[in-house]
Amino acid sequence: MLHVESIKKIYAGYSNIYDVIFKQFFYPRQRHVINSMDITPGDKVLDVGVGTGLSLPLYPNHCEVTGIDLSREMLKKAREKVNKQNLTHVSLKEMDASNLEFDDDTFDHVIATFVISVVPDPVKVISEMKRVCKKTGNIVIVNHFQSNNKFIAKIEEYINPICCKIGWRSDLSLDDLIDSADLEVDQRYKLKKFDLWNVVFANNNKIC
Ligand SMILES: C[S@@+](CC[C@H](N)C(=O)[O-])C[C@H]1O[C@@H](n2cnc3c(N)ncnc32)[C@H](O)[C@@H]1O
Repeated sequence: MLHVESIKKIYAGYSNIYDVIFKQFFYPRQRHVINSMDITPGDKVLDVGVGTGLSLPLYPNHCEVTGIDLSREMLKKAREKVNKQNLTHVSLKEMDASNLEFDDDTFDHVIATFVISVVPDPVKVISEMKRVCKKTGNIVIVNHFQSNNKFIAKIEEYINPICCKIGWRSDLSLDDLIDSADLEVDQRYKLKKFDLWNVVFANNNKIC
């Protein structure tokens, strides 16, 4: 099981080495989804679990980006990027994704890359992402989900306790999550045939 306090500790530990280890895997996927999002001038974007801010230079400077994260140390790295690259359209806040401190219907785009399997309650986080997203807005998720291959799925269940110790769970099913979080998915795919990560584009057409 993942717990907020252990997640904070684990990601504080990762903060100095995160970019060196993960950028090669995560950045190309962030670039793909952000380039695929139709971000128009003046749009408000929320980047949930922004981490060290790898994604931040990818947003066009005609939009307004808010990045939130639970980890002060990860945010410190993101803040360094914002200052160094003069990303004046970006603001950062320490916040728990399962209790977002924003009004309903605030953002045009809400994105979470490599976060949904890190949080203790992914359904609650997605319900918060939907709440703060405008009805006409988009929700974008990039994440590892449990394989559809039964053999690999069993291995992912087996190694899950170890994965949780290093800061993420390996047994999260995308189909179950879509059902439980009542997510209206427009597209779901992998960038490569055998990719570990799924891209999910959903709309937020809430029934009023
Ligand atoms: C694997 S990193 C991904 C960071 C970034 N999105 C990226 O793509 O590089 C997961 C991030 O989620 C953050 N996180 C975990 N649980 C969170 C929560 N409940 N609320 C906000 N951020 C959280 C961690 O602190 C960490 O920075």
